[in-house]
Amino acid sequence: MDSRQFHSPLPHYPGFAGRLTAGMNDNLHQLRCFGCGDRISGSEVLPDFRCAKCGDLFEVEYAGWSLRGGTNRPNAGALKWLWRERRSSSETLDHSGVWRFRELLPILDNYGNAVTLREGNTPLYALTRAAQKLGVDQLYAKHQGMNPTGSFKDTGMTAALSVAKERGFEWVACASTGNTSAAMAAYAARAGLRSLVLIPEGKIAWGKLSQAMDYGAVTCQLKTDFDGCVKVLAEIVQKEPIYLLNSVNPYRLEGQKTPAFEIAEALDWNVPDHLIVPGGNLANSSALGKGFREMRELGLVARMPRISVIQAAGANPLVRSLSANHGKDLEPVEAHTRATAIRIGNPASWRKAVRVIQDTDGWCLDVTEAEIAIAKAELGAEGLGCEPASAVTLAGLKKLRAEGKIGSGETVVLVLTGHTLKDADYTIDFHRGTLLKEEESAGYGEDIEKLRRNAVAVDANPRAVIAAMRGSAG
Ligand code: F0G
Repeated sequence: MDSRQFHSPLPHYPGFAGRLTAGMNDNLHQLRCFGCGDRISGSEVLPDFRCAKCGDLFEVEYAGWSLRGGTNRPNAGALKWLWRERRSSSETLDHSGVWRFRELLPILDNYGNAVTLREGNTPLYALTRAAQKLGVDQLYAKHQGMNPTGSFKDTGMTAALSVAKERGFEWVACASTGNTSAAMAAYAARAGLRSLVLIPEGKIAWGKLSQAMDYGAVTCQLKTDFDGCVKVLAEIVQKEPIYLLNSVNPYRLEGQKTPAFEIAEALDWNVPDHLIVPGGNLANSSALGKGFREMRELGLVARMPRISVIQAAGANPLVRSLSANHGKDLEPVEAHTRATAIRIGNPASWRKAVRVIQDTDGWCLDVTEAEIAIAKAELGAEGLGCEPASAVTLAGLKKLRAEGKIGSGETVVLVLTGHTLKDADYTIDFHRGTLLKEEESAGYGEDIEKLRRNAVAVDANPRAVIAAMRGSAG
């Protein structure tokens, strides 16, 4: 791609310190270890993205942002203007809901290396029926399933895969519960790179597996779980020149923070009172927290939302850690849930998630298989739909409301992370009544029956179809 293609035609805006367009050589970033605080340059990082001194993960940091009046500090008013103008720009990079905000993720030397599928710019839908039922004034769903490969992973992948391309890698790889691999395979294919996917055999949804194949990845199904795949890949990247694209890669989080900008922009630079996010490997909650924190630091918004993380009860190591020791240690668990995207027992980014929850006074709780299934059907019945892992957010909100932790006057945003077609088998099993075991649905029978809409076999004549229509529940 020709970098000149990305030269913005927008005019100079006074007060923007000459940094109106992010062209070449705007790269300001360094990596800071989350554990020991050591700082290194991006090119010094080890293949497993762990700190050489303490083994913890890195965060991307931008020199000078925290200094008021510093020359590197972007101007909040100018940024808001510029980002809005870009909505009507004809430049490819401006069509991306990630790179539209590129002043806040200056991680590339040359924006000609950006690999984009026009990710981001996802809708913020009002959830009117759920809001009414729960007695919440303003309830929204930020639907990240509306990204090009059907999940929020695209926002992170465009960022990190562009770095891989800029650094000259031929191969990229990830271990995945399905969505990361789908996104990575697509972006690698666009960039002309080879991709290697490690997935737990039999434990990912077919829609996601089919995507990795479709986009030409070398897909290895390992006889282990997600956590086992992560271990195998950690050894491979030490032996082969492969760029690791799991969320231990801090550039993924730079892309995944941009939905925070979109949410604030959609609410006219107000922040919601509460953001509710599903928790698996725990990178996304951390990324969104970083997005809101940086916006506050730069004066784009006045405060942070509370950020709460919801896990499946069968895959809840963070919930356990926070209740056992306030998030000081995390004991891995053997994970079991039909929400396969978040079937993770040993989450890599748990320390980052603890910081986000504690800094924002958020909550962390878990929900059962029946609660997830019901919430997913309710979101479907509002015409949105999502994959099971995303539905934990609504299930979590119901609990937080019931416990009085969220007031009726609050503005709440649920982050729906994946598209409903990712896991059609789950949806069909729910509506057929074969998803849950009796003991799992105990106490929820009535709620489930009200939501079930099984397809019915009907004789091929109008009378029979009309009878089926009249006989259906309202
Ligand atoms: N929702 C969906 C649909 C996901 O695919 C994932 C993670 C999460 C939520 C949890 O996000 O890990 O940042 O806490 N999926 C990963 C994958 C692990 O491999 O696709 P997290």
